[in-house]
Amino acid sequence: MQDISYPINDFGPVIKGMVIGGLGIFHVFLAQFAIGGGMLMCYFQWLAQKGRSAPARRFLDGYFKVLVLVSFVAGALTGVGMWFTTIQISPRTIGVMVEEFHWIWATEWTFFCLEIAAGYAFYRCGKGLTDGARMTLLMLYTVAAWFSLFWINGILSWQLTPGGWTHDRSVWSGFFNPSFWPSLLFRTIVSLTIASLAACVVINAIGAFTREERAELIRRAANCLAPMVLMPLLGVWYLAVIPEDSRSWVQGGSAAMTMFMGISVAASVLIGGYALVGLIWQRLYVSGATATLLLSLAFGATAGGEFVREGVRKPFTVREYLYSNAVKADELAALRRSGGVTADPFPLRNAGAYPTEQLRLGAKVFRFQCSVCHTMSGVNGLTHLAGTWTTEQKRMNIAKLQHTKPFMPPFAGNAEELEALVQLLEWQTAGRPGRWDQSTDRAVIREVQEWLDEAGTAPGTEPHTVGGASPASPDTRQPGKQEGR
Ligand code: HEC
Repeated sequence: MQDISYPINDFGPVIKGMVIGGLGIFHVFLAQFAIGGGMLMCYFQWLAQKGRSAPARRFLDGYFKVLVLVSFVAGALTGVGMWFTTIQISPRTIGVMVEEFHWIWATEWTFFCLEIAAGYAFYRCGKGLTDGARMTLLMLYTVAAWFSLFWINGILSWQLTPGGWTHDRSVWSGFFNPSFWPSLLFRTIVSLTIASLAACVVINAIGAFTREERAELIRRAANCLAPMVLMPLLGVWYLAVIPEDSRSWVQGGSAAMTMFMGISVAASVLIGGYALVGLIWQRLYVSGATATLLLSLAFGATAGGEFVREGVRKPFTVREYLYSNAVKADELAALRRSGGVTADPFPLRNAGAYPTEQLRLGAKVFRFQCSVCHTMSGVNGLTHLAGTWTTEQKRMNIAKLQHTKPFMPPFAGNAEELEALVQLLEWQTAGRPGRWDQSTDRAVIREVQEWLDEAGTAPGTEPHTVGGASPASPDTRQPGKQEGR
């Protein structure tokens, strides 16, 4: 079997998965601003060239400075930050993504370099150039920025809907997967929306315009909000192509997913309603404060949407192929026999804090299998979730993890490892005493093994029916608990 152990870092009280997710939200927002910003600037350059808008040119140079500062600098930094965090949290997952799509990544970076070069050239020399040259640079910038979305979108959408790739492992089947187009078009419109709202903020912030000039510029910027009418259609298309269980999460199957989806949709409807009725139809003026509020709503919508997109993939990072904890679906059965961490050479950070070897083994099992979604006793902490369970319940429910909650992967280790993890939970719940007996009863191991065999190695099936009531799973032995994200 392939080597599956990597050193992973610990981010204290925060769940590892949330570190990536949190940074990702900022990065996506900034990157989409950069793309939409390019389109918007091409439009204003065209207006200026055709003599259709006197203040367009002045606005353009002011807007570009904001775009450069905010989206180039912060966008690029958070982008690099994403790589730095993913390699510390889930090196194997990012490794798989690079392995499958290395030429796509390389192509994406080429376009990103082009985007930076064109943008920087415009920043340095834009003011002194002819209209034609300005337009060429801006177009180059925009096309490059949009294509970097095009390439990355193929990889991100592949994670949720790998489509034909599941059978033929071909790069292009994976890239042009079922959610590729709805996702790309939706993100393009989101980019334009963010850029247009940011433009309304900038127009108000630049002191040099008269009230009439401002009103005119805002009216032009608001035109870029018009494509928002297509968002419901694209949203429905997207929902239609994602897997049924993922869809059921956002339709009431998971309280947190449904709530974040609701936030995202509500924020989008508010922005869309204001934009279409107020700005485009009624031609209202938008103040700096309102524009900032709308832009914040757009951030909220992006955050909710990204959170849902990451969340509905559970228990997979690549559907049917790679679990969230970086275990490949087809190697799970072998890990049940060999153990998941027997070959893990990387020491625990605070190995001395555990009184026995068995607890250290449990800590490695936790780090390997659970820590991407759980902390021990902080956010989504295991001692809270399983705190009231008896030792027997812990053994059984963890052995049948994928049936306890179908958004968790099956347990990926042997019975000794499972018992070590249970002991770790008991020890943590007991307040980490300095002495702790090892659990060595063979009868316990046999019992755990039986539960593991009963559970099988296939992912859990979702008991919910789409859009309807969610009958309690017969395997859920902890009544009255809400599903989390
Ligand atoms: C893909 C992410 C993920 C992984 C990996 C994962 N869990 Fe969970 N687990 C969750 C989520 C989400 C919940 C729901 C939390 C809630 O109800 O608020 C949960 C709930 C639980 C619960 C409470 C279940 C109940 O019925 O109330 C236990 C116990 C648990 N996990 C143990 C584990 C153990 C042990 C591991 C590692 C072997 C693990 N989980 C791996 C995401 C995960």
